[in-house]
Amino acid sequence: MNFLMDTYARVDIALVKGEGAKVFDSSGKNYIDFGGGIGVSSLGYANKKLVKTIEKQAKSIIHSSNLYRILPQEELAKKMSELLGYGVYAFFCNSGAEANECAIKLARKYGAVNFDTKKYEILTLKNSFHGRTMATLKATGQDKFHPEMFAPYIDGFKFYDGIDEIIENLDEKTVAVMIELVQGEGGVKPLDVQKVQKLSQILEEKKILLITDEVQCGVFRTGEFVTSKLYGIKPDIITFAKGLAGGVPIGACLSKEQIFSYGDHGSTFGGNFLSTAAANTTLYELSKFKASGKLDKNIKRFTKYLDKMVENHPNIFVSRTGLGLMQGLVVKDSLNLDQIYKKALENGLLVLKSGSNIVRFLPPLTISKDEIKEGFKRFKETLNEI
Ligand SMILES: Cc1ncc(COP(=O)(O)O)c(C=O)c1O
Repeated sequence: MNFLMDTYARVDIALVKGEGAKVFDSSGKNYIDFGGGIGVSSLGYANKKLVKTIEKQAKSIIHSSNLYRILPQEELAKKMSELLGYGVYAFFCNSGAEANECAIKLARKYGAVNFDTKKYEILTLKNSFHGRTMATLKATGQDKFHPEMFAPYIDGFKFYDGIDEIIENLDEKTVAVMIELVQGEGGVKPLDVQKVQKLSQILEEKKILLITDEVQCGVFRTGEFVTSKLYGIKPDIITFAKGLAGGVPIGACLSKEQIFSYGDHGSTFGGNFLSTAAANTTLYELSKFKASGKLDKNIKRFTKYLDKMVENHPNIFVSRTGLGLMQGLVVKDSLNLDQIYKKALENGLLVLKSGSNIVRFLPPLTISKDEIKEGFKRFKETLNEI
């Protein structure tokens, strides 16, 4: 650990392997993973089909560069468009922040080439999180992400408390609005459906782009391939990462319009054979899981347990918040949050935190009935110790 930069508050356990929704540390102790590697391990650990794909792809070709055609990348772009149900163009990269960087550049170009006077401002929500690169840090509306030590930040972003304020502040400089339909780092908060639909309609009329950051809430996390489907909207640009390739680093930016031309953007690793082959298998398996009704069953089961936790522990929890398998429990006393996190770990359960008062849950989407049952048994033990 001593040779690493001090960027994370790491717990002193070393996970060495996993199976399903269970992970094991170097001492052999097992944990039910209700955090799913922060929403990345969508198919759980050591998924046989994913392992086989990665093994086969690695034996054949991992990388060639985007100087040549990459067939699994083309297949993935087609598959994502089909799952969305409307035509989009894809750009692949390696992370959520990079996917949002692509969206920001698309919006800037759109604003430069389509209007007599350049439009360039992107409006986001104050409680948002869009990444940690210099542009996405600035797009992130939370003040704590803009400390003076990293200044100067790039221009062209404005933040508002809610959708109504965004609508009120659209002007001739606004080129795009970027939102997370379910705010992940900002407290597992779903935005209001009617307000989002109204926003989408107004933006369409004004020729302003709607960008949904589905880095955390996309890829079946909330029950559909994209959360925008649940919201009944068709954003101009959607960004993805996290669960898309089951743990292999990938990011994706989908756009209805072909805005970029040659030379506008690029990535050395983005969309290489390994990550896109892994994503193709991940999407195939998740689509199957969804079509079989198992994903919806998992969501119902998990939600029922969470509601029970709130009902049985009114001294600890205020309410449940979230959608699908992106859920949170709002803690009454934020001092309890760390305690829950640490004691859960002792009891063999991994959970996440969001904001100052939310226990966050992003389990593997394919988690089994028994793993859910065992995880909540460990969670109950934890709550009884608080
Ligand atoms: C909504 C959202 N956007 C962007 C990001 C940044 O993704 P990454 O850490 O892969 O760059 C995250 C990460 O948590 C996220 O939740």
